[in-house]
Amino acid sequence: MRMVDVIQKKRDGGTLAKDEIEWIVRGYTQGDIPDYQMSAFLMAVYLVGMTDEETSQLTLAMAHSGEMLDLSGIHGVKVDKHSTGGVGDKTSLIVAPLVASVGVPVAKMSGRGLGHTGGTIDKLEAIPGFRVELTKEEFVRHVNDIKLALVGQSGNLAPADKKMYALRDVTATVSCIPLIASSIMSKKIAAGADAIVLDVKVGAGAFMKDLAHARQLAETMVRIGRSLGRRTIAVLSDMDQPLGTEIGNASEVREAIAVLNGGGPDDLRTVCLALASHMAVLGGVYPDFEAAHTGLQQALASGAALETFARFVAAQGGDPELVRRPELLPRAEREVPLPAASAGFIEAIDAEKVGLAAMLLGAGRLTKEDAIDYAVGVTLRKKVGDRVELGETLAVLHVNGAKEARRSPCCARRTGSGPFSRRLTRSFTKSYNR
Ligand code: URA
Repeated sequence: MRMVDVIQKKRDGGTLAKDEIEWIVRGYTQGDIPDYQMSAFLMAVYLVGMTDEETSQLTLAMAHSGEMLDLSGIHGVKVDKHSTGGVGDKTSLIVAPLVASVGVPVAKMSGRGLGHTGGTIDKLEAIPGFRVELTKEEFVRHVNDIKLALVGQSGNLAPADKKMYALRDVTATVSCIPLIASSIMSKKIAAGADAIVLDVKVGAGAFMKDLAHARQLAETMVRIGRSLGRRTIAVLSDMDQPLGTEIGNASEVREAIAVLNGGGPDDLRTVCLALASHMAVLGGVYPDFEAAHTGLQQALASGAALETFARFVAAQGGDPELVRRPELLPRAEREVPLPAASAGFIEAIDAEKVGLAAMLLGAGRLTKEDAIDYAVGVTLRKKVGDRVELGETLAVLHVNGAKEARRSPCCARRTGSGPFSRRLTRSFTKSYNR
C-alpha cells in the first residue's frame, strides 16, 4: 500500500476499507508515515468527511494503537462519562461519587485542563495529598471496594490519537466531526468501559458553538459507541455561560462538595442529575431515567454521595476532613470584586472569556510546563437572567499576587480597575430593554 494512493482515494471522495485505515494508523503511530502525508490525509478527511463505518474503523484502529485496559477484574457494568469540555465544568467530581454511591462502578480516566477549559485531574490535585496515579491493582481494588477510582490518562492510551491530535492542532483540521468523534471515542474504548455517557457541550465556551453541530457530533459518537458494542448515550448541555458559579480548581472542588451535600447551584445540579441518571440506568441499577433521578436525589439528600466522595478522597491519599470542611481547601490571598458599570439584566456571559481569565490568573496553563495555582479563579455573583444594580458585584477574582505577576505581568498590573477587569466585566452582556 502507498500512502499517496490512500490520500488520493480520500481526496477524490472514496471510501476507505478497514485494512487501509488500520494501515494508516499503524504506520503513523510507528513513524513510518511522515507528518506531511498524514497532514494531507487529515485535510482530505476534513474536506470530504468519512462514512460511519470508516469513522468506527478509525476509532478502533486508534484505540488499538496502544494499551487496551482490561477491567474484567471489576465486578458489574463499568460506566464511563465524558464531557467535551467547558468552563466551570466540575460534573465528573459530582457525578462519579453520586453514581458510585448507588452501586455503579466507576473506573475513570480523566484529563488535565486544555486552553480555557479546566480538567478533572487538575481539580482533584487541589486536594492536598490526592494521588492521580494508582497502580492497576490499586485502581481495580478501589473500584471493587468503594465503587470509584479516578486517575490521569495513561501515557500509552491511544497514542495514535495523541500524535494525530497534535498534528490536527497545527494543520487546521481540529474542527471536523469524524476526527473529533474518533479521537474522543478511541480513548473511551481503550479505557475499557462497558457503557458510556457523553456530555456534549454547546455554546460560546464549548468546542461546538451551535446546536446543529453539537447534535451531529453527539449522534456520530453514539453511533460509534454502539457499533463497537458499548451502550452509549449523549446529553447536550449548555456552555454559553460557565456551569455553576466557580471557575478555578480548589473553588470548583468546594462547589462540587456543596452539590454532593444537597446544595449548590441549580444549573450544575440539574446537569449532574441528568448525566448520573443515564449512567445509573446503563449500569443496571434503576429501570428508567425517572426512577434513577429520584434515587440519586435521595443519595444527595441523605449524604450517601458525599460519604462516597470522602472515602474516594481518603483512598487516593487526600484528607477526608477537607470534604467535611471544604473551607480548608486552598484560598487565594486577595479578592477583587468587579462592579457593574450600569444597572440592567445579564443577557449573556461569555464562558470562553471567563475561562481565559481564570487561566491567566493561574488556574490553567499557558504552556504544558506551567504549574497551576489551585487557589485562584473567578466566582460569578450573577448569571444570565439576573438583575444587577449599578455598582453591584458581577464577579470576584481570586488572586495570588506573585503567581499572577509571574504568569502574566500585563494582567497583574491591570487586575483591579484596569483593562483586565474591564475586559472580564465586558464578558457580561447587559440588556437594558427588559
Ligand atoms: N477532545 C478530544 O479528545 N479530541 C478532539 O478531537 C477534540 C476534543
